[in-house]
Amino acid sequence: MPADSKVMEKLVSLAKRRGFVFQSSEIYGGLGSVWDYGPLGVELKKNVKERWWRSMVHTREDIEGLDAAILMHPKVWEASGHVAGFADPLVDCKHCKNRFRADDPRIKGTPGQPDAQCPACGSKGTLTAPRMFNLMFKTFLGPVEDAAAVVYLRPETAQGIYVNYLNVLQSSRQKIPFGIAQIGKAFRNEITPGNFIFRTREFEQMEMQFFVKPGTDTEWFDFWRQERMQWCAGLGLRPDKLRFHQHAPGELAHYAKDAYDIEYEFPFGWNEFEGIHNRTDFDLSRHQQASGKKLEYVDPATSERFVPYVVETSAGADRTTLAVLCDAYHEEEVAGETRVVLRLHPMLAPVKAAVFPLVNKDGMPEFARRMFDDLRGRLNVFYDDSGSIGRRYRRQDEAGTPFAITIDGQSVAQDGTVTVRDRDTLRQERVAADQVAAYLGEKLRS
Ligand code: GAP
Repeated sequence: MPADSKVMEKLVSLAKRRGFVFQSSEIYGGLGSVWDYGPLGVELKKNVKERWWRSMVHTREDIEGLDAAILMHPKVWEASGHVAGFADPLVDCKHCKNRFRADDPRIKGTPGQPDAQCPACGSKGTLTAPRMFNLMFKTFLGPVEDAAAVVYLRPETAQGIYVNYLNVLQSSRQKIPFGIAQIGKAFRNEITPGNFIFRTREFEQMEMQFFVKPGTDTEWFDFWRQERMQWCAGLGLRPDKLRFHQHAPGELAHYAKDAYDIEYEFPFGWNEFEGIHNRTDFDLSRHQQASGKKLEYVDPATSERFVPYVVETSAGADRTTLAVLCDAYHEEEVAGETRVVLRLHPMLAPVKAAVFPLVNKDGMPEFARRMFDDLRGRLNVFYDDSGSIGRRYRRQDEAGTPFAITIDGQSVAQDGTVTVRDRDTLRQERVAADQVAAYLGEKLRS
């Protein structure tokens, strides 16, 4: 898709220029597939995460929050199956020393056989047979760097929830069915990372594990599948760019009985940004067995004992943010010029309103400053008095700021009204200065 790959290039360039996303350690040449969020990016991603947290933890009585540590006992990852199974098959080129996933579509022939040709250097017969490569990052706990001190950076936040399931159940006095939600960093030593912040080695997950009685899992799985699609649509993503993809039996993760991805049509094609999994009692049973601690639930009404089934919703905060950015990016012709605008949902926009004095004289800066001071306690607003008003509007369009408030001669000398420009319709309305906060509040709620 040549036209669409241009969109990604433009988006990456805008993200850097406007302070959404920078390459990690850029002054040292960057670190492979690790990214930093700049002033606008951190606000955008925080708004995505807050919206998720509110929908999970604050608006539901049956979900509790958790923030488990990234480092966990190494036995967790043995029990979960990640030490043995969280691996990709890789092949090496003996000639150029490059490494590829064995299923890399650029490889022609069978790796390990004389017919296979290296996609990097073109040599024939130099690719090794596939070997498994574990995706977990390892480090050492304490001063001694030996096998007994190995710990892992978690590759998913979910396990922190499973090992705390009893703690949360007992301290919150919840009853099954109930859920535990967590937002946090996860790490994977991905072999083929790429597409900007789509597949990275350090990323953030928003995961919720819902504990249910066995036998009711299919019903809850369907419920959460629909809920999550609705939430994604509520971010303002275009409905025709969203779809489900059900995993075929061969695609299912080692823990899953059924799984659906929520996919977005990124400029580089349809791809997953959230997964809903029926993990059965796989994880809790494995932890019960490996730790020797009973993780059964005792139904208070019937005294029935069972290991709960888990329905998981697992979203990537970075991938969701990327979907939001891709969806919002628009170029349009306005008065013979190309306008680049991020049509972000106002609730997600990093800056809600910009305040401009039309010119830096005649009392306009003082008026504008008072307005800015009044608004900034309530909303993330931005003050800008440099450059022509047209340039200031364009900068805010690129930042996705839904409203721009301009203080002009009429504001100061005549009636105390200001203009409020709508980013999407480009319409300007005159609003009394003391009504601006209420006006914005109303618009941002809708
Ligand atoms: N706990 C289940 C789990 O981790 P997953 O499908 O491997 O399932 C869930 O990951 C979500 O985490 C993905 O839909 C994606 O949004 C995000 N994710 C996974 N690997 C990622 C990576 N390397 N970079 C960015 N996001 C990633």
